[in-house]
Amino acid sequence: MDFIKVSEVPEHEGESVWLRGWVYRHRATKEVVFIILRDSSGIIQCTVKKDSPFFEKAEKTTIESSIKLKGKVVKDERAPGGYEVRVEEYEVVQLAERFPITKDYSEEFLLDVRHLAVRSRKLTAVWKVRSAVFWAIREYFKKKGYYETHAPFITMTSESGLELFEVDYFGKKLRLSQTWQFYAEALLPALERIYTINPSFRAEKSKTARHLTEYWHAEMEAAWMDLDELAKTSEELISYVCEYVAEEYPEELKLLGRDPEEMLRIKPPFPRITYREALKILEKDGISVPFGKDLRTKEEKQLMTHYDKPLIVTHYPKSAMAFYKPRDPEDPEVARCLDVLLPEVGFEVIGGSERDLDIEEMKKALIEKGEDPKHYEWYFDLRKYGAVPHAGFGMGVERLIQWICKLDSIKDAIPFPRTPERYYP
Ligand code: 4AD
Ligand code: MG
Repeated sequence: MDFIKVSEVPEHEGESVWLRGWVYRHRATKEVVFIILRDSSGIIQCTVKKDSPFFEKAEKTTIESSIKLKGKVVKDERAPGGYEVRVEEYEVVQLAERFPITKDYSEEFLLDVRHLAVRSRKLTAVWKVRSAVFWAIREYFKKKGYYETHAPFITMTSESGLELFEVDYFGKKLRLSQTWQFYAEALLPALERIYTINPSFRAEKSKTARHLTEYWHAEMEAAWMDLDELAKTSEELISYVCEYVAEEYPEELKLLGRDPEEMLRIKPPFPRITYREALKILEKDGISVPFGKDLRTKEEKQLMTHYDKPLIVTHYPKSAMAFYKPRDPEDPEVARCLDVLLPEVGFEVIGGSERDLDIEEMKKALIEKGEDPKHYEWYFDLRKYGAVPHAGFGMGVERLIQWICKLDSIKDAIPFPRTPERYYP
């Protein structure tokens, strides 16, 4: 038997076709059993009439049972999607036990049974968009001449002492990687332009709608690049992903409540302001942030009420930044760095910077943050053997997906989310 996909059914009007999938909805009257069959491509109404030898079997088939069937495709205005399959052959592959998810349960319950919830129509749409997002990121970097590279996840080198998961490594305490960046910088003299998409780990206890303890991190690093070109790369990347997803999965976006046209309007250039300008805008809105404090959730959210495109904020205060973000020679209180904030959700999706080439400055900053510069000796070596100006950024892939798919929580942007209290299943 040749099976077709549910989405291909309309192309076979008047023919008999074989389908296979899962029972999405089930309703039986005395005369006819209505089965809405689901496969990865969509849903279709299938009917089994009273006089069919399969009527009783169909009547007893439970929600989420896996089935195979053959049937004639007919146009039917009343059926969802406008087509119906009139069943001629019917086989139950596995009769499902009573499916625990039948109505709208609480978010917590749905996470307890995540292994069963991942097949929902809404989440299926998210997984397709997610797949397209990963593809588009790779395609963008490939087109721009970047190589994909990889770094160890078990490491001694990290952004800051906070937010680290320790790993017992044969009795030694190592850490799970927060970023690929440091290893990327070592690879620049070999490849000049590189990127990765890898899991990053953050032991943040914060229970927010935008934090995971394990998330997918798309990072790039480029030799000879300055802050301006870095900002351009960030807006091109985000725009590329938005356009790709809108063209590839418009129906899925609509199902998620996102108008694909909105994604097509995300095009460079993005508005650009400095941290100092951001403080002024916030001041006018009645929120005063003292210079030197990083922007908090509430402030980022307020700032983004003024924008309907992603916003690039540059030149954050040096003292609040990671040790490798260099001072701006023209304004030594700020660093040559950027964050990209997203509209609607109002949070950061990209963080990046030029990289400091001054070893003493970096040592000082590390010590201020309670880190031992000894662990960074190899990183400082990179400044001794043919250092060149360079820059890079990291993008939280689930945050981007959360925004694109209009999800209330970042947890729905990844199949099996990890948070401080969520590690099963
Ligand atoms: O701003 P961050 O911490 O930057 C870095 O790690 C740099 N080393 C990246 C680089 O320059 N190569 O993290 C980058 C992005 C953030 O903007 C955010 O989108 C995402 O990673 N992110 C998280 N996403 C989900 N859950 C978390 N707990 C996240 N923490 C950061
Ligand atoms: Mg950041």
